[in-house]
Amino acid sequence: MSLTVYRKAHFNAAHRLFKKEWSDQKNREVFGKCSNPLYHGHNYELEVGVTGTVNPETGFLIDLKILKELIETEVEIPFDHKNLNKEVPEFENLNPTVENIAKVIYDKLRKKLDAKFEISVKLFETPRNFVVYTG
Ligand code: NI
Repeated sequence: MSLTVYRKAHFNAAHRLFKKEWSDQKNREVFGKCSNPLYHGHNYELEVGVTGTVNPETGFLIDLKILKELIETEVEIPFDHKNLNKEVPEFENLNPTVENIAKVIYDKLRKKLDAKFEISVKLFETPRNFVVYTG
């Protein structure tokens, strides 16, 4: 039996969308309010999906406790209440758009989860704006 299990998580983080090589004015034209030089925050909602085959012996696809702890270690602890641009090394030279944040989360989880699983990362930056990344 193949199916997908999901784990939801949450983090609050500050960011600024900008390119160093552009003026503040050009950044504002392209990125709007999200380019505020003094940063601003979002309440990010995350849904991680893990697809695979259920182990007939346990009835588990993956132990959800392990998935919960992995998301805590790889995402919530490093990102929650952080300034993504300044405190999270992955965004030192990567614009922290919701697209790029989803890819960074995917890449971190991909390294830690067994290759037999497919992963999806759904990340909401606002209740209405979200992305889905599946690698
Ligand atoms: Ni923003």
